[in-house]
Amino acid sequence: MCGIVAVAARREASEILLEGLRRLEYRGYDSAGMALIDNEKNLLLHKKLGRVSELMKAQAMEPHLGCVGIAHTRWATHGEPSAANAHPHISNQRVALVHNGIIENHAALRGEMIDLGYEFTSTTDSEVIVHLLHHFLRDGETMLGAMQKAVGRLQGAYALAALDTENPGQIVAAREGSPLVVGVGIGENFLASDQLALRQVTDRFIYLEEGDLVQITSASMQVIDLSGQRVERQVTRISEALETIDRGNYDHFMHKEIHQQPRALADALQIDADRRISAKCFGTGAEAVFDRVAAIQIVACGTSYHAGMVARYWLEQLAGIPCQVEVASEFRYRTRVQHPGTLLVTVSQSGETADTLAALRNVAEGEFVGSLAIANVDNSSLVRASDLVFLTRAGAEIGVASTKAFTTQLVALMMLTIVLGQRRGSLTENKARELTNALHSLPEFVQQVLELDPTIEKLAEAFINKHHTLFLGRGIHYPVAMEGALKLKEISYIHAEAYPAGELKHGPLALVDADMPIVAVAPTDDLLEKLRSNLEEVRSRGGELYVFADKEAGFANGPGLRVLQLPSCPEVLMPIVYTVALQLLSYHVALHKGTDLDKPRNLAKSVTVE
Ligand code: M6R
Repeated sequence: MCGIVAVAARREASEILLEGLRRLEYRGYDSAGMALIDNEKNLLLHKKLGRVSELMKAQAMEPHLGCVGIAHTRWATHGEPSAANAHPHISNQRVALVHNGIIENHAALRGEMIDLGYEFTSTTDSEVIVHLLHHFLRDGETMLGAMQKAVGRLQGAYALAALDTENPGQIVAAREGSPLVVGVGIGENFLASDQLALRQVTDRFIYLEEGDLVQITSASMQVIDLSGQRVERQVTRISEALETIDRGNYDHFMHKEIHQQPRALADALQIDADRRISAKCFGTGAEAVFDRVAAIQIVACGTSYHAGMVARYWLEQLAGIPCQVEVASEFRYRTRVQHPGTLLVTVSQSGETADTLAALRNVAEGEFVGSLAIANVDNSSLVRASDLVFLTRAGAEIGVASTKAFTTQLVALMMLTIVLGQRRGSLTENKARELTNALHSLPEFVQQVLELDPTIEKLAEAFINKHHTLFLGRGIHYPVAMEGALKLKEISYIHAEAYPAGELKHGPLALVDADMPIVAVAPTDDLLEKLRSNLEEVRSRGGELYVFADKEAGFANGPGLRVLQLPSCPEVLMPIVYTVALQLLSYHVALHKGTDLDKPRNLAKSVTVE
C-alpha cells in the first residue's frame, strides 16, 4: 500500500530516491517524504501532502544532499493524509523511519513511549516504531540490535527502513507481512517495497523472507533471520529487459495497458508446438499434484476474485471439477470444511495482497493437496509461498484499475481447465484442441475490440451525468458484468452494481428508471433468450439499455436501446473479449468525467495491509 525506497551509496541519493518513489507511486499517493543524512551528519527532511511531484518540487526549491536516505509514498491507514502523518517519522532529530503495514498494538506502545518522555507529532500507528528504535539506540544498542528489539515489540505487519545520524552510513530494515527487497549494487545498496523501484540502478535483488532484518551500507549487507542468525539469502538477477514505466503515446497507463492486451495475452499463453498445453506450465511437480486433485478452491480479491468466478464455470462445465470461489478476506477467517483432494488456487496480480497471502499462509496442514499461485509478479510473496506457480507475464501493470492482469489470469485459468479436464478424462482430445485453438486466436479478437475504441468513447458520453448504473449478465457473463461494474465505480466514481439478470425481478428492478443506465453483457450463448426476456422487463419500465452483443444476438438500436456490436468469437473467449469492451467503457466515462483514473481516490494498486 505504501512504497519504501532506501539508498546507501557513495553518490548523491536524492535522485535515486525520488525516481524510486515515482515508480512506486501506484502503491499509494496521498503524501510523500524523504530523509537524508548530509556530510555533517544532519538529518534533512522533506514531507509533503499529495503526490511525489510535490516532494520533487520541494527538493528542487530546497535541495537536500546526502548519500544515505530513505523515502516513502503513503496510502493512509491510521491518521488522515497530511504532511505531519507523512513518513519518514523522526525521533529526537536523530532517527528517521519509514513504515509500510499496520501496527496493531500501536495504542499501547504509544502510551509506553509517552511515559518515557517521547513526544508524538503524528496520529499514525507508525510513529511509535521510530521512538522505540531511538529508545534502544540511546541505550547503546547497535542499529541492528535496536531494530531487533523494536520489532520484537510490534504486533501486526511491517516493512521498515530506518537511519540514524549517529551511524550515518547505515540503513537497517525489517519485514514481516509486507514486502521488501534488497537491491544489490556495486559500491551501493538499496531497499524497496518492489524491485520495480530500483530497476534503474540494479538488476540484482534479494527477496527478504518473513522476519528478516537487514543492514545495508554502500559496501556491505548483512541479513539476520527470524531466529537471530546471520544468513545468506540468494541474489536473483532479473534478466528480462528493463520494463519501461512511461505511458508511451497514451495519456494514461490504464489506456496503454488495455491496448497492450493482445501482446500480453499472447505472452501469457503457453501452447506447445503440437498445440497442446502441458501441466508443466504450472511448475515442476504439477503433474503429480494435479493427479490428486478432486476439487478446486479459488481465493482472491477484487478483480482477481472475478477471474476466479469466471473460472468456476469453466472448471465445472468443461473439466467436471467441483469449484468454490471466495474472497480472501472472508475465506481466511471462516471455519471451513474442505472437500478431500482440494487444490488451493490463489489469484493475484501483485502476489502481495495481504488477505490472499494470509489465506494461503493460514491453511491447516493437510487441508489441501497443494497450492497454486496465478500471479503476475515473479518472486512475489505469493509465488514464493506456493507449491505451484503460473506467471501470467502481463508485464508491469501500473494503473490502479486492473486490466491486462485480469484477462491474462483468465488465460491461465482456462489453461488450468484444459490440463485438469484432460487428466481427469472429462475433456476429450478434440475438445481440448478446440479450446486451445480458440485461445490461440484470442489476441486477434481482442485487437478487433480495441479498434472499437472511438465508438466506445462516444457511447461513454451517455454515462457522464449518471449517478448509478446496473450491469447485467447471465451464467459466465455475470462475473464479467461484476468486473465491468467494479471497473466503472473505481475510476469514474459512478455507483455501479452487477446482478445476474435473472435476479432483477427479486428486488433491483425497483431501481430502474430513465436515469439508470443498464449495461447488459449479451453475447450469443445458451442463456441469451433468458437474458433477452430480462432486458424486456427493464425496457418496459423505461430503463435505458446499453447492450454489448455480437451480430448473431440480433439486437438493434431503438428507443431506450443502444447496441455495441462486438466480434463474434468462440464461446470460451467471450468473457475476455467482452471484458475488454467494458474496460474501454469505464476508461472513457472516467476520462469524460476528468477523474484521476490511473490513481483513483482512496485506492492503491497493491493492497499489502489487511
Ligand atoms: O494484486 P491483486 O490481484 O491481488 O489485487 C486484488 C485487488 O486489490 C485488485 O484486483 C483491485 O480490485 C483492482 N483495483 C481492481 O481493478
